[in-house]
Amino acid sequence: MAMNKHFHMSKGEGELSYSRNSSIQETVWLMNKQLLESVLESLFKVSYGVDKICNIVDLGCGVGPVPLALVSLVSNVIKGKLKELECDESCDEVGFKCQIYMNDLPSNDFSKLFKDLMSLEGLQTKYDGNPLCFFMGAPGSYYDRLFHHNTLDFVHANYALHWLSQVPAGLWNEHGVPINKGNVYMSETSSKAVGNAYWTQFENDFTKFLKNRSEEVVPNGCMLITLLGRPNDSDFFTWRTVELKIINQSLIALISEGLVKEEKLDNFNFPAYHPSMDQLESVVKKEGSFLIEEKRIVIHDSASEIKNKHERAQVLAKSTYALSESLISHHFGDQILQPFFDKLVYFAFQHLDLGYLAQNHSLTILLRKI
Ligand SMILES: C[S@@+](CC[C@H](N)C(=O)[O-])C[C@H]1O[C@@H](n2cnc3c(N)ncnc32)[C@H](O)[C@@H]1O
Repeated sequence: MAMNKHFHMSKGEGELSYSRNSSIQETVWLMNKQLLESVLESLFKVSYGVDKICNIVDLGCGVGPVPLALVSLVSNVIKGKLKELECDESCDEVGFKCQIYMNDLPSNDFSKLFKDLMSLEGLQTKYDGNPLCFFMGAPGSYYDRLFHHNTLDFVHANYALHWLSQVPAGLWNEHGVPINKGNVYMSETSSKAVGNAYWTQFENDFTKFLKNRSEEVVPNGCMLITLLGRPNDSDFFTWRTVELKIINQSLIALISEGLVKEEKLDNFNFPAYHPSMDQLESVVKKEGSFLIEEKRIVIHDSASEIKNKHERAQVLAKSTYALSESLISHHFGDQILQPFFDKLVYFAFQHLDLGYLAQNHSLTILLRKI
């Protein structure tokens, strides 16, 4: 599948849209908010007094609460700085000029994103006659170059970089026969070659990502990256998120109901990889342009605040649907979307009812450009 053309989170504002179903991503973002705030504080300390523009990008911004919360936080940090300096609306040339670029694949719902951004309270506050920050779209893949050399001061990417640039080519043998039949990801029944194909794709993609950003980020600039990972290397074949588990179960169930052909499933693989922290670090070290300044692993039992299992299963199913709808409809056709969603709800409930956790392991790294 050409990710650049078809992949996107579910669009709009409907019940199954990503903007209404990204509370899991938001919860993890909030867990790292303090770290992000301290990075932003130091960023504006550096640019204070200099007539310079601070360039920030949110890579894989999507839509919904996270990109909005990021923009609000940046604007609050700037306002706090202006207050410290006792600057009011008449203050000019305070040196906190900021531009925030919102990046995602061109198929992202940019129109909703910008409508929501324009109605964010407090953003229109003006100092020296201009808004605090200007924000703009930067469509394209972050595995390619997106900005001019030496232009970015800070890069933010929440829950994006576990998405690969493509389904690994190594999941088909030299005769085009699928080698991961019956699975949509690495599993206990997958061969070693499947694991290698996924890891190689991630290693190549993440290296490309770092190389391109190293061109764009200014010396000493930084990147705060949070992505879905897995607990450790020993779980190579057994670890998968609850989302991937219920997607796999749902598609298999649809085969037995005659709604999905077995060969179709055999040729469907999820274009995502969840690295361990060791793997992530190994790629950063090998590529060599950035130093890891801080790293943390957050283990989060998704939507565990919801005690009613039926309601919690709905949240897990909607969130899974919102991130997989475009992949499913592109490969299997729109006609299976409703039954697919119904199965997700069923298997999410079964998962919870059997007493399993819905744990996600999020890896966060703060990288400094050497
Ligand atoms: C799970 S969403 C996260 C959105 C948002 N950052 C959040 O935390 O809610 C992942 C986003 O990454 C984007 N994405 C995936 N691959 C990408 C790529 N190669 N370049 C740019 N964006 C990409 C997807 O389109 C999607 O919007």
